[in-house]
Amino acid sequence: MSEIRVRRIKRIAARMRVPGDKSMSHRAVMLAGLAKGTCRITGFLPSDDCVRTLRAMQALGAEVESTDGDRLEITGIGGDCRQVLETIDCGNSGTSMRLLAGILAGQPFSSRLSGDASLTSRPMARIIKPLTEMGALIKSENGNDRAPLLIQASRLHSVHHHSPVASAQVKSCVLLAGMFAEGGTAVTEPQQSRDHTERMMRHFMLPVRTDGLTTHIQGLSTPAARDFNVPGDFSSAAFWIAAAAALPGARLIVENLGLNPTRTGLMTVLLRMGAQMRENLDSADAIEPFGTIEVRGAPLHGTTVEGPLIANVIDEIPIIAVLGALADGTTVIKDAGELRFKETDRLAAIATNLAAFGVPVNETQDGLLIQGGSPLHGATVDSLGDHRIAMAFAILGLFCSGETRILNTDCIRTSYPGFEEQLAHLHHRRRKRGGSA
Ligand code: S3P
Repeated sequence: MSEIRVRRIKRIAARMRVPGDKSMSHRAVMLAGLAKGTCRITGFLPSDDCVRTLRAMQALGAEVESTDGDRLEITGIGGDCRQVLETIDCGNSGTSMRLLAGILAGQPFSSRLSGDASLTSRPMARIIKPLTEMGALIKSENGNDRAPLLIQASRLHSVHHHSPVASAQVKSCVLLAGMFAEGGTAVTEPQQSRDHTERMMRHFMLPVRTDGLTTHIQGLSTPAARDFNVPGDFSSAAFWIAAAAALPGARLIVENLGLNPTRTGLMTVLLRMGAQMRENLDSADAIEPFGTIEVRGAPLHGTTVEGPLIANVIDEIPIIAVLGALADGTTVIKDAGELRFKETDRLAAIATNLAAFGVPVNETQDGLLIQGGSPLHGATVDSLGDHRIAMAFAILGLFCSGETRILNTDCIRTSYPGFEEQLAHLHHRRRKRGGSA
């Protein structure tokens, strides 16, 4: 089992890029795999999670040529999937499982989806329910609303699903199933979640329409072949943005970064905390906006993160909690009960790990209260197999005296291959400029 050791950083002066967006990579590969014709996907994130989706699409009949790790040429199956006899193993990836279930629900054959110990303990009723409403024959093999999921051949019909959770995975599952259903399918969410599926479906010429919090898709539709360039993942850049924002005197530029407004809520949070940063869009009217973020380190103060903003920063809560520990005063996170259903119970994991660093923290039912601003000494903490917990606490280690050890860090490769090298590179730059460890 691998680990990361981190020491205090005194200076950050860097211009960098991060690997491709995870959510967009999953969706690009799914839609290209279903398309009629050949699509070139560049900037694909070759992480464990996205490779699970790629393999599943290959098993369903898509032909994939990889010229390089992040450049794919995919010849789609034109909507006509081939039966997969063996279990589709989604590993640790909730996005693979929930979105693939949408595609598989309307096929004229049965299939079985499973995953690792973390994924098979995450709630699946949120997709079983709408798919069943659409006429799918889908059930949890162990009758506990968890994976493995068994899907039998069925024909889907239109529904209007009102999702009780603001979840892009639920919305996307229903929209993908809607492609194979008769008539029009609609899904309404309580708050705006990331809208990559809608944007990408439009790009692949599918009949999708969004009206406020409701998205409609016209059924029995097949994606056209389109090329797509995946920009850098904002949720990966979030770790470096946070480190630079909290280190007075730091300067950081992140280029070629996805700046979809349903994903960049961390900037709102950081600006409220007193951070100095700005974004420059290279292309505002691209399918997915992208550009550059520039950050200068400054003293931060605590803030409250709650309400509709939570869905926007759903993957950034671990790093926001770390920022709360580094900022003066109290940081409050509310309305974040969904965090209990991620790769691990993230509220519990954050509270345990912050406490190990000596940060005063209270865990509430749907959030955290963090007292920041005290000097911190390094600690040894476990990622609990959760990539974002591992990376967030590695960043906290950059602000501690002594050594910090993050145990169980193999999970980082599910979303961010190369994180450790980029972390070492930040330290290396510092040494080259004359600092000492
Ligand atoms: C994702 C949606 C989010 C997010 C996950 C990726 C996606 O999950 O936490 O990392 O690609 O659709 P929920 O939609 O379940 O909140």
